Amino acid sequence: MPIDADACRALDRRHLWHPFTRRSAVDGEPFPVITRGEGCYLYDTDGTRYLDAIASWWCCNLGHGHPRLMEAIRRQTRELDHSILGNLSHPRAVELATELAGLLPGERHILFAGDGASAVEAALKIALQYWHNVGQPQRCRFASLAGAYHGDTLGALSVGYVEQFHAPFAPLVQPVFRADSPCCERCAWNRQPPDCGLPCFESMQRIVDEHGPELAAVIVEPLCQGAAGMRIYPHAWLRRLADLCAARDVLLIADEIAVGFGRTGTLFAFEQAAVAPDIVCLGKGLSAGCLPISAAAVADRLYATFSDKPADRTFYHGHTFAGNPLACAAALEMLRVYREDGIVQEAARKGRLLAERMAPLRELPGVAAVRWLGLIGAVELDGAVPGRAQQVQARLRRQGILLRPLGEVVYLMPPLVIPDDVLGKTVACLYDSLRHG
Ligand SMILES: Cc1ncc(COP(=O)(O)O)c(C=O)c1O
Repeated sequence: MPIDADACRALDRRHLWHPFTRRSAVDGEPFPVITRGEGCYLYDTDGTRYLDAIASWWCCNLGHGHPRLMEAIRRQTRELDHSILGNLSHPRAVELATELAGLLPGERHILFAGDGASAVEAALKIALQYWHNVGQPQRCRFASLAGAYHGDTLGALSVGYVEQFHAPFAPLVQPVFRADSPCCERCAWNRQPPDCGLPCFESMQRIVDEHGPELAAVIVEPLCQGAAGMRIYPHAWLRRLADLCAARDVLLIADEIAVGFGRTGTLFAFEQAAVAPDIVCLGKGLSAGCLPISAAAVADRLYATFSDKPADRTFYHGHTFAGNPLACAAALEMLRVYREDGIVQEAARKGRLLAERMAPLRELPGVAAVRWLGLIGAVELDGAVPGRAQQVQARLRRQGILLRPLGEVVYLMPPLVIPDDVLGKTVACLYDSLRHG
């Protein structure tokens, strides 16, 4: 039955609370009502086709409705829809944990959760309890980066606190040491990587030097601080952080929720720095965005301390839908498709194409910086014309391209399977839009 878009919007305004969305955006202009997804495209009630240029919040790496993922889910529905992992097991969770552990450095145990924030929450609590387990409960503080985003639950919010958005929650937010955010394209020291000497590391160095004995862990988004506006930083910075953490016995948590599964041109972004984080948070692309699933992948040296003998050091934490069999089946199929179709290698190759196409945008008026990494391409506007990013967004939407700027940063983060010509055309549309307005 055809869907009446206006009726749908009216009910939407009455009953639906949109995440991370200003009321004026919902109450204002009619927004598309999406009814179908196929490949890199979303379709609205009128049949208008939009390129999903942000992979639906950075997760639909294989596009929408991938036939193999859909079939894997259907197959799984014939066996087992849901079963908890508390004192029980099921084959899909075991297979997925085994595969993920095999893809990550060292020996690991995988704790599943439902969405990114809950994986981060688990990682923070595991870090805290680890120090408790080994008799160092004074290590109970965290360090993170200015502008970090790790999710919207209270623990994740503490390490990613931004005054502008989170002031109402301040009473429940834990104080965290906050290091300067590195970003090569906006280098405050005007240096060029790779021989810049990383002056941007100094504030993190100071925090760990001064507060090491109180620190449970440092948590970072490896190589790219997504929500901060795709702030891309060199792998040497991450390498230095891992060395520092190892030297001061501070745990390192890599939040790969946005950048994992090929986004930066390697399966995990931290691989480029040749580091082995103690805990790796995974989400979004773990099911290629088709079902909610996330994970904290924890080094066995930490896991080993969570025994209940002689004292009870059980991790009393879990979510009803952790390791849901349908989501695990989708994730397992995602990994098979990645292997068979060389998705990561292709993402790296397309990343080079994106870099080539993005570079000329630097010359455009009103552009403060252009940066890219793998299949992330971002243009930071100089802010001289208020609302320009939203104008670009509206113009591109009329051309059938869906974007969602982060403040003054307009970025592309398309499905990794985007065809070369579509990628090229999308950057060309962005170029034209910035040139004309
Ligand atoms: C780096 C990072 N961590 C955590 C999250 C939170 O994930 P979720 O929205 O699934 O809770 C996000 C979401 O954008 C993210 O980018």
